[in-house]
Amino acid sequence: MDDFQIALPKYYQEIQAASEQIGFNMPSDLQTGSLLKTLVASKPETSILELGTGTGLALCWLAEGMDKNAQITTVDNSEEFLAIAQKYFGSDSRINIVCEDGSKWVEANKAQKFDLIFADTWAGKYTELDEVLAMVKKGGFYIIDDMQEQANWPEGHAEKAAKLLAYLETRQDFSITKMNWSTGIVLATKL
Ligand SMILES: C[S@@+](CC[C@H](N)C(=O)[O-])C[C@H]1O[C@@H](n2cnc3c(N)ncnc32)[C@H](O)[C@@H]1O
Repeated sequence: MDDFQIALPKYYQEIQAASEQIGFNMPSDLQTGSLLKTLVASKPETSILELGTGTGLALCWLAEGMDKNAQITTVDNSEEFLAIAQKYFGSDSRINIVCEDGSKWVEANKAQKFDLIFADTWAGKYTELDEVLAMVKKGGFYIIDDMQEQANWPEGHAEKAAKLLAYLETRQDFSITKMNWSTGIVLATKL
């Protein structure tokens, strides 16, 4: 089985080319994207939160798994990156693209609940973790990638990632699976 042989979602190649042009180098990989799409497709009319939109590469996969009544809010603080996501998804009424600091957005919206949260920036992963875990509906998914040590991690980041993992493992209200696949995924379901 070749798990890199994956059909790409709509707009992926266009957004990838635009990302390369501006030097955006933090995309989630294809395996993570494919997993996100499959998880999103598990629930009709699903509600999704992505923290850290980037240029919209993971958003391509998330959007591909959504039905016509699904909704996603995706948050990033970079106008430059979001301009690319806006170009392709700005007219899709299911998709709410927000330019704001992730921590501030979580603080202002912590009463909201989602079926799936992909935490792909500091907020919801290394900060505001309890707040974001509380935003996952019962039976919903919390998912993070980049949990396997990488050569370009700054000093101290491996310890941060280990602390995050150790904390998630203490949470009795989530069923957690660690996957040494893709960039290192943690998939947690709210009990
Ligand atoms: C790993 S990238 C997201 C990649 C994207 N999910 C994808 O798969 O292509 C992390 C993103 O977090 C954003 N970011 C960094 N600090 C932030 C903050 N304080 N608030 C919101 N977003 C932030 C960056 O602009 C960057 O786009």
